[in-house]
Amino acid sequence: MEVYSTNLGRSDPSIREGASGDNVQFWDEQARLLHWFTPWKETLRWNPPFARWFVGGTTNISYNALDIHQDDIADKPAIIWEGEDGTSQTVSYGTLYLQVQKTANLLKSLGVRKGDRVTIYLPMIPEIIVSMMACARLGAVHTVVFSGFSAKSLADRMNDSGSTVLITADVGYRRGRIIPLAQTAQEALKSSLKIRHTIMVQRQDGIPSTWVPWTEINNKSDKCAAEPVESTDPLFILYTSGTTGRPKGVLHGTGGYMTHIHSTFRWAFDIQDTDIYHCTADVGWVTGHSYVAYAPFLCGATEVMYEGAPDHPNPSRTWQILEKHKVSIFYTTPTALRMLMRHNAMAAKSYNLSSLRLLGSVGEPINPEVWVWYHDVIGDGRCPVIDTWWQTETGGMLISALPGLESIPLKPGSGTLPIPGIDMAVLDENGKTAPPDTKGYLVVRNPWPGMMLTLWGDEQKYRDTYWSRFPDYYYPGDYAIQDKDGYMWLLGRADDILKVSGHRIGTAELESCLVSHKKVAESAVIGVPDEIRGEGIVVFVVLRSGMDGMGMESELEKIIVSQIGTVARPDAIHIVPILPKTRSGKIMRRLLKSLVTGKQIGDLTTMEEPGALDEVRRILQDCGCDESW
Ligand code: WTA
Repeated sequence: MEVYSTNLGRSDPSIREGASGDNVQFWDEQARLLHWFTPWKETLRWNPPFARWFVGGTTNISYNALDIHQDDIADKPAIIWEGEDGTSQTVSYGTLYLQVQKTANLLKSLGVRKGDRVTIYLPMIPEIIVSMMACARLGAVHTVVFSGFSAKSLADRMNDSGSTVLITADVGYRRGRIIPLAQTAQEALKSSLKIRHTIMVQRQDGIPSTWVPWTEINNKSDKCAAEPVESTDPLFILYTSGTTGRPKGVLHGTGGYMTHIHSTFRWAFDIQDTDIYHCTADVGWVTGHSYVAYAPFLCGATEVMYEGAPDHPNPSRTWQILEKHKVSIFYTTPTALRMLMRHNAMAAKSYNLSSLRLLGSVGEPINPEVWVWYHDVIGDGRCPVIDTWWQTETGGMLISALPGLESIPLKPGSGTLPIPGIDMAVLDENGKTAPPDTKGYLVVRNPWPGMMLTLWGDEQKYRDTYWSRFPDYYYPGDYAIQDKDGYMWLLGRADDILKVSGHRIGTAELESCLVSHKKVAESAVIGVPDEIRGEGIVVFVVLRSGMDGMGMESELEKIIVSQIGTVARPDAIHIVPILPKTRSGKIMRRLLKSLVTGKQIGDLTTMEEPGALDEVRRILQDCGCDESW
């Protein structure tokens, strides 16, 4: 059997040993590696389930990402940006520093102060990072909305966060198409409650006259001192799908979050001065926040940022980018890897990828075959592959091999061990530790620095969602197995959240969107396995009595795209006369899933009307969808 390992020869046992004792003291030491204006008085205030790290300390993440580098690496590239059309642009640490200060001054002139919220709706261009850091510099709270979200999603997030300023662009570019962001923003602004100013990055001609052009930053001073903020002050809100109809605003703080991502970025990626790092995540999602917009700069690294689809204009685009920019550390998703592998498993061999030295995966379970291909073909058998498990709520990685810290054997498909300082377990239904090699629920048993502060405006929901399933433990909502060596195998969600191409989508959110259509009485949304994207979305709806189903599929697709966004576009929509339900009236999604995937239908004793299944089966057969998904 082939043995894989984190073979970089690093060995710093002091970190894991240090963490195995007093883990609060351990994080205290890690936080000292960063710059603080005033030291903290209390390392952790643990008032379950609320953790507040480095209480009384003041700092600023933008200071740690920029100011501290100006004496030694001002000329070093911070961002090497590449557009889909092949144009590139390099932004040095010095330039980024000035741009962030000018932008912070622009925001200030528009009335933005510490604690105010700013919504950022931008494509993958350096300005998205500049905007986030400018907010952070002032102590303002940013809320980035992924550019694939619709006007309604954008408006909901602006309103829920109470943002007063919106930063957007006229257009984005993806897969050879133009994404009309300003148009969507204009639509969203019609129902915005508090936005006073919109700043727009102009990439083409034409701008609504009331908007502030981004170029206005050039009329501002390039000096804006970083505001000392409390470690426990919020840094950002990032909305994410949950098990209810409305997305939740995950609120992250400053000092703990910064310490967590700074530590994990170094340990996991073994970052060195000469590295060129490329992460394919969009800044609109949490990976893009932690490991594109912040951590690389805290560590003085150079990163490649790409605006566009990884397979455009052809599936070798990713390999071209790695070759062109001599990328040494590559961090991507299983979906991207499966797509590239499926297209041409050996295509990468025609590119010179000898610069690569470490590979990472995030966002969904990675199949062992894909892991081995990533290791053997892309990494040429030389590069360790790390599978990093974490969530929007955790702020940074909680499970990953750490080639920058230690040498351990790797097992394809396993995330390996919890990072130092994190106490995790797998529990059974009753909250007892599951025996090794048995599927159960993943939990975290102690607070960690990257932990969310709360859910924005909904403390009760924070308690209910994460701390009620297993009192005293954080419940992330994932199934896992811990093997005899203590290695974690992540098995996907245990709740109604889907992971489609690594994007988190709540079935409840889709269902409430579908029933907002006047002809729809009921709906059920399920995830079905998809070879490339991990999961695909299948929708079932029952129409109100007497309603005509003509053209409904396309109408329902439209309502999803307009209310949520293109990310949630379903793969199939079925209009059915009845949905299978339990006697207490709960929709049996599990049965629908079995029907679509051709699995054995289990126990039907709790079912209200068994004939409902035959009705659904007949409809699936008519469209040729069942058992052959
Ligand atoms: C899933 C993304 C298996 C998991 C960083 C988690 C993973 C959800 C992995 C969070 C992994 C993330 N292996 N599953 N390495 N990483 N997940 O908030 O179900 O977009 O709960 O954060 O993604 O998704 P989120």
